[in-house]
Amino acid sequence: MSKTRATITALGVYFPEKRVTNLDMAKVVNTSDEWIRERTGIVERRMIQAGQSNSDLSAKAIEDALRDRKVDPSELDLIIVATVTPDMMFPSTACIIQEKIGARKAWGFDLSGACSGFLYALATGAQFIQNNLYKKVLIVGTDVMSSILNFEDRTTCILFGDGAGAVLLEPSTEDNLGILDFILRSDGAGGKFLYMPGGGSLHPASHETVDKKMHYVHQDGRNVFKFAVKWMSEACEELLRRNGLTSEDVSLYVPHQANLRIINSSVERLKLPPERVVINIDRYANTTAATIPSGLTEAYRCGRLKKGSLVLMASFGAGFTWGSMLLRWGLEPKKP
Ligand code: UT7
Repeated sequence: MSKTRATITALGVYFPEKRVTNLDMAKVVNTSDEWIRERTGIVERRMIQAGQSNSDLSAKAIEDALRDRKVDPSELDLIIVATVTPDMMFPSTACIIQEKIGARKAWGFDLSGACSGFLYALATGAQFIQNNLYKKVLIVGTDVMSSILNFEDRTTCILFGDGAGAVLLEPSTEDNLGILDFILRSDGAGGKFLYMPGGGSLHPASHETVDKKMHYVHQDGRNVFKFAVKWMSEACEELLRRNGLTSEDVSLYVPHQANLRIINSSVERLKLPPERVVINIDRYANTTAATIPSGLTEAYRCGRLKKGSLVLMASFGAGFTWGSMLLRWGLEPKKP
């Protein structure tokens, strides 16, 4: 009997309406449009308005995905939310979303994998399908990075944006379509290069933690950059090699969007032409767990994917966490 594969059957995305350009950022910190474009590839990002939260963005992305597939939320078995910016420490954002969208039957949990959160969650959710336990697993990659940015630190606040992407996993009805393989890794020694120290059990919120700006993203950009370039490419190469594939077989490469220079370095190493690479960092900046599902959704809706296309996804982020995933696209092309 052939193995049940998990395949993506619906996709959705939501970015908040408020656009924040590089010029807007230059009014807040000592930076310039030129520096941000040249060093990162970012032109603008989206940010929530007061009163909006992670679960609001997620619910909109989920509704967008389920509407396309005509699936009712009450049919969902499981919701996995990849995020580092939940609505609150607990209950989980998955529980808040479950109630918001009316997914009465589903249980769910949040998964903290930073920029690799979406791939971690996709691999986790796929297990429930492959083991024939569930038929409909919803994966959300979502972050409100503006809620943890220090708008006095020009080295981090210009890099991130807010957004959410959602995909539905179902059993594939055809052999060899769906998730083929993945490599997921972490190395806790990298934790010191990208972290948010305040608010957890080690440094609970206090006047002191607030005064010391411990509730914000702290990053040693150069070190993160160095490891991202190496490990994202290596995870792709290793995954292709062990599946007897080369980059020539890849129809679409969907890398995490942290810095255009990191993306380009992996693209050069994989020798991929630009038409086979998804880039949206210019419009949305780094939305952490949302970059890959939002990029995938846009690519599908622009007609860049057809049934049978080989998709390669790759990520690198805080932890360090990183990974790559191969999937054989199972949906008919969406007409632009
Ligand atoms: O998704 C999570 C994973 N995160 C990443 O993958 C991020 C990885 N790192 C990066 O993308 C890059 O390291 C950054 C974009 C964060 C920084 O770029 P860089 O080319 O590594 O710059 P740098 O840190 O080496 O700084 C170069 C100069 C410094 O000035 P001096 O010391 O040469 O005088 C910085 O102070 O650029 C300065 N600088 C800025 N100047 C204008 C840093 N940030 C800014 C800024 N505007 N926003």
